[in-house]
Amino acid sequence: MMSLNNKTILLGITGGIAAYKSPELVRQLIKQGAKVKVVMTDAATHFVTPTTLQAVSGNPVFISQWDARIPNGMPHIELSRDVDAILIAPVSADFMAKLSLGLADDLLSTLCLARGHESNGVLSDCPLLITPSMNRQMWEHVATQRSVEKLLQDQVILLGPASGDQACGEVGMGRMLEPVEICEALIAFFQPKLLQGKKVLITAGPTYEPIDPVRGLTNRSSGKMGFAIARAALEAGATVHLIAGPVSLETPLAYSGKITRVNVMSAADMHAAVMAHPDCDLFFSVAAVADWRVNHIAEQKIKKQSASDIPAFDLVQNPDILLEFAKKSVNQHPFCIGFAAETQNLIDHGKKKLLAKNIPLLIANHGPSTFGEDHNQITLIDAQGESHFGPADKISLARDVIREVSKRL
Ligand code: C5P
Repeated sequence: MMSLNNKTILLGITGGIAAYKSPELVRQLIKQGAKVKVVMTDAATHFVTPTTLQAVSGNPVFISQWDARIPNGMPHIELSRDVDAILIAPVSADFMAKLSLGLADDLLSTLCLARGHESNGVLSDCPLLITPSMNRQMWEHVATQRSVEKLLQDQVILLGPASGDQACGEVGMGRMLEPVEICEALIAFFQPKLLQGKKVLITAGPTYEPIDPVRGLTNRSSGKMGFAIARAALEAGATVHLIAGPVSLETPLAYSGKITRVNVMSAADMHAAVMAHPDCDLFFSVAAVADWRVNHIAEQKIKKQSASDIPAFDLVQNPDILLEFAKKSVNQHPFCIGFAAETQNLIDHGKKKLLAKNIPLLIANHGPSTFGEDHNQITLIDAQGESHFGPADKISLARDVIREVSKRL
């Protein structure tokens, strides 16, 4: 999936040590389908060469406002007119101060000023995103924070900085986001804000039902589809609360909405965590919740005795979280979306579940062929019928799901 297809990005590079990551950022943007034009400040050329950036972007690099290659002699106007966004990575403290004051003493700063401005509450067509990179003292300095405040007021979008090891050897706030994170943030920025202001509750992954302190019942769900839904909901501007079973996945970074996460083990834990959020607008029940648990969990590890002594377990049914949660919903609020991972008769089982759980939308997929994979095929089933999506990567499918759900709200 190339999430930046048909987008042209003007990448501005200013003088910071993190400029050594800019060529990698260009490659990431191109990998996602973007066309990249690079403009550097003079200071940036001390950290990374224009030749490198020309080679990786496949386009001439511009530095000077007096560059004669632009026929009308106005590179500050010409270079910004056809771009979908200006991204400055890294942006230095000096350049942020200049931007916040509206100074225009080189090509990049003049170009940012000429990109348009807010008029009658309408944003210009060319958004500006900046990714700060500097020493922690510089970042925390009141003057820098003043610049940040002004830039935010001016609708400039700030990505990062992150906290961590710095090139100077100090540790703290001011690290530039990694190229892959910057690229993800830009992708998130371009997604339509279909769930702006909505509270979204998501369960993901398997549950683990202990038998004794070392063994348990679980299933092959990796949580990838649920986490992709969380990311797509964030990109759409939602506030997401993610309830994750035992998975080894990082929480998606929130560049657009907001995310909180709790980790649970058993279906009973997941049940309690879900019921604590009756005020959500949407509930995506993506988790593969274990249908049964053992009635009595052994306090100590069950020891293997003789060859003929095989333990028997008394299983009891777990609460059906989705069924119970949907029952509480009055007038389809929250809007509940169920998932079904089947091994056969996908559509039949899906239709039955839609009715049994009394939910407006069910998403069916073939469990064994997608567990742990990055790709999937899904069928959306509702009262109107079925629609198929994929095969595609899970984040693309998650964006399809968000779009389809937003149409039904
Ligand atoms: O009934 P079945 O498990 O096949 O239905 C799957 C859907 O129900 C999924 O959305 C799953 O998250 C949800 N579910 C649940 N609690 C259970 C079992 C399934 O919420 N105990």
